[in-house]
Amino acid sequence: MKKIGIVGSGLIGRSWAMLFAAGGYKVVMYDIDKNALERAYKIIEEQLYDTEKDGLLRGSLSAKEQSALISITSDLPEVVTDAVHVQECVFEDVELKKKVFRDISDYCNNDQTVLCSSTSCIMPSKLFTGLKRVSQCIIAHPCNPPSLCPLTEIVPHPETSAGVIERTRNLMAEIGQTPITLKKEIDGFALNRIQYSIINECWRLVLDGYLSVEDVDKAMTDGIGMRYAFIGPFETCHLNAEGTTQYMEKYAEGIQRVSSTFGAVPDFDDNSVAEINKQMCKMVPDTREGLEARRKWRDNCLLELAKVKAKVKTD
Ligand SMILES: NC(=O)c1ccc[n+]([C@@H]2O[C@H](COP(=O)([O-])OP(=O)(O)OC[C@H]3O[C@@H](n4cnc5c(N)ncnc54)[C@H](O)[C@@H]3O)[C@@H](O)[C@H]2O)c1
Repeated sequence: MKKIGIVGSGLIGRSWAMLFAAGGYKVVMYDIDKNALERAYKIIEEQLYDTEKDGLLRGSLSAKEQSALISITSDLPEVVTDAVHVQECVFEDVELKKKVFRDISDYCNNDQTVLCSSTSCIMPSKLFTGLKRVSQCIIAHPCNPPSLCPLTEIVPHPETSAGVIERTRNLMAEIGQTPITLKKEIDGFALNRIQYSIINECWRLVLDGYLSVEDVDKAMTDGIGMRYAFIGPFETCHLNAEGTTQYMEKYAEGIQRVSSTFGAVPDFDDNSVAEINKQMCKMVPDTREGLEARRKWRDNCLLELAKVKAKVKTD
């Protein structure tokens, strides 16, 4: 049976462990903090049985079979030895990750093993340059929560081998994720660059007094976002005219005119943060209970959306 190593058992490490076990892989998970590791295994077991009870378990194996595929260890070499893929999920700290990759790289005993980071925003050149197994290193950045939002950004280092890129993409697709591959590295990768451009303009619209926080969010959830769950910005253009060429003949001038008024990147100063937070808290209190309840509601919505998307795909 093929083995996957997980390094770091926090939110993302646990998510990967469950995704790989659902795909039928043997998963060995490591954490430097033994208590965190034991806690993580318990959370995973609970989540597997809960999702099974709700009829929402991924893959064809039962919760019992999936939890039997996952084991924990405090021995890093045990995680790396003979693994087909090692997924690093430690804190977002470049020096810590570099050290972890040096260790993983030293313990690795196979030129075919993929050494993969979950980093949200550290570029491959900052993380992997100089490592002796750099050609085996790559980033697979998941979207949170990974079990409900399948997008995974694959970001290779310039020296990552073509075979490693292909195997990472194939593995992600096999376990039900949606891989996209950056052809070259860029700060923020794709997802956060797109997301930040939206946050910046929404921030300006509220702070410059055009819209309330509530109405900006409605513009997304009941407007643009309705389409974006099914078609991206390019297909939106294509379908909103007789193809992209005609769309741009009609709208390019307007897009350029409006875009030239966007202004500078907001500086997110304390006053503006306090104003946005005040308006936001009227809708969702920033208490532990308030946030937890809303997250639960969000995850349920995403689950229902995933069902609709799966149905639409097979129709
Ligand atoms: N949380 C998100 O929404 C999200 C989304 C995508 C990617 N990521 C990325 O995933 C990674 C992990 O994020 P997270 O939210 O799971 O963090 P987390 O804080 O929940 O967990 C990090 C875990 O790493 C462990 N750890 C620290 N040093 C270690 C070491 N030397 N060896 C082994 N384990 C060690 C900690 O004990 C902890 O259990 C980060 O790089 C983050 O940027 C996070």
